[in-house]
This record gives sequence, C-alpha cells and structure tokens, in this order.
Amino acid sequence: MGRLQDKIAIVTGGARGIGAATVRRFVEEGARVAIFDVLVDDGEALAAELNRDGDVASFSKVDITSEREVEAAVAAVTAKWGRLDILVNNAAITGVNKFAHEVTVEEWDRVFDVNVKGTFLCTKYAVRPMMEQRSGSIVNFSSIYGLIGNDDVPPYHATKGATLMMSKTDAMCYAPYGIRVNAVHPGSTMTEIFMKCAETYPKGKQAYLDMMKEKHPLRLGEPVDVANCVLFLASEEARFVTGASLVVDGGYTTQ
Ligand SMILES: NC(=O)c1ccc[n+]([C@@H]2O[C@H](COP(=O)([O-])OP(=O)(O)OC[C@H]3O[C@@H](n4cnc5c(N)ncnc54)[C@H](O)[C@@H]3O)[C@@H](O)[C@H]2O)c1
Repeated sequence: MGRLQDKIAIVTGGARGIGAATVRRFVEEGARVAIFDVLVDDGEALAAELNRDGDVASFSKVDITSEREVEAAVAAVTAKWGRLDILVNNAAITGVNKFAHEVTVEEWDRVFDVNVKGTFLCTKYAVRPMMEQRSGSIVNFSSIYGLIGNDDVPPYHATKGATLMMSKTDAMCYAPYGIRVNAVHPGSTMTEIFMKCAETYPKGKQAYLDMMKEKHPLRLGEPVDVANCVLFLASEEARFVTGASLVVDGGYTTQ
C-alpha cells in the first residue's frame, strides 16, 4: 500500500526539475498523476515512461497563465479519473535578474502572471471538485526567498512571498471543506531555475555558486529532497497540517 494509494494528483511544471521528481515519487507511492506543463517533449516522455507499468500518468500542455487552458485541463483530469485529491502548484519562472530600478512593468507582470496568477488559476479550478468531495491537499511552492531576502531576482522573490500568503489564506478558506493548503520553501536545488539564477547573477555565476554552497550548512539540494517533503504534505500523514511552511533548505534559513 503506497502512501498516496489511489490518489489523483495534478503537478504543474511536472515535466522537469522538482516537479518531475514529485511526479515520480507520487507514482511510486500509488498515485495517478496529471502533469501540466508547457514543455511538451519532456512532459510526454515522462508520462510515457511511467505508463509502461499501467495508466498512472498523463501529460497536458497547459500554460497556467491561461484560465481557459487551466479550466479545460482540470476538467479533463476529473473526467478521466473521476476525482481530484492533490494539487501541487510547482510551476514557476525566475524572470529577469535585475534590481528593481531596472525592471520594466512587462518583466514584473510576466513573473507574477506565471508564479502568482498561475497558482491562483490552478487552485481556483482544482479546489472545486475537492470542495464537492470535502477533502483534498494543495501544496504551493514558495522558496527560502519567500521568507528572507537576497540580492537578486526581486520580482521572483516577491512572487514567493505572495504564494506563502495565498497558502495561509486558502488554508483558512477551505479548512471547512476538509482541504489542506501548505507551502514548501526549498533552498537552492540543482535544477534549470537554479542554474539560470547562477548564470544571470549580477556578480557572476561562480560567485553565485560559491555563495550558495557557503549558505547551505548541509549541501545544495537535489530535486527528490524537495519531492519527499511535498509527498508528506500531500499525504494523509499530514492530515492535521494546514497553513504550514515546510522549509527544505539544508539549514540555510537557520542562520
Ligand atoms: N531550484 C531551486 O533552487 C528552487 C529554490 C526555491 C524554490 N524553487 C521553486 O521550485 C519550483 C520548481 O522549480 P525547479 O527548480 O524545478 O524549476 P524548473 O525550471 O526546472 O521547472 C519549472 C517547470 O515549470 C514549468 N513552467 C514554467 N512556466 C510555465 C507555465 N506558464 N505553465 C506551465 N508550466 C510552466 C517549466 O516548463 C518547468 O517544467 C518553482 O516553484 C521554483 O520557484 C526552486
């Protein structure tokens, strides 16, 4: 019996990185998982690999900034699998790596569109079947930079503060329906987003990597380190946990 046996889940941004690691852990623990992403090749390849042992994964090309696409994709999941138990709002972009006085309104809006509006839209449509079922678990991705500051990507960090507060508010709004909403706060985890932050860091890539190694007392993170914490929050093991912030950062924010 898996820790998510027979649960139906959506993981946004599940085609690669932490999202893909989460999809894999969920399937290993008995869930069926719908991957929502804009990366068609990666998403289809992951779903095909997981489906070698049965119908456990699907891929939908969904831009989470499109209300029409999100609504249709969530409806397709509930039509295919009959219910929806878990939403992981993982998809995000870093956007431009410039200080606030150089960021254009368009650049600011783009990061908020994906990271904040996308999280809102997926929650808006996924929570409806959960309200009917009177159960569900939503995990929103914040970051260590939803808790503390750093001298890079100001719009991205602002979105991560926003997703933390969305989690707390939604936890209050949906608790009467038996729906839990929690936030994870990863530290530096070796994925494309992390490398993009490094490559565009104003003081240079090596300075970023040195700074991050120095700031993580244990080590830098691997995608499965975060996926295991998302799994806990998504599962019934966390049935009394809502509105919480689970920091997964190798000790970065303890200092
Ligand atoms: N990697 C880190 O160091 C780190 C640290 C803190 C927080 N996080 C957070 O973890 C989450 C996962 O990040 P990652 O490191 O795996 O990054 P990643 O770039 O590897 O993966 C992000 C995924 O989101 C998808 N995506 C982007 N825009 C989309 C859109 N409009 N619609 C649908 N999908 C979209 C991408 O295609 C990609 O598959 C993000 O929320 C990120 O902010 C990551």
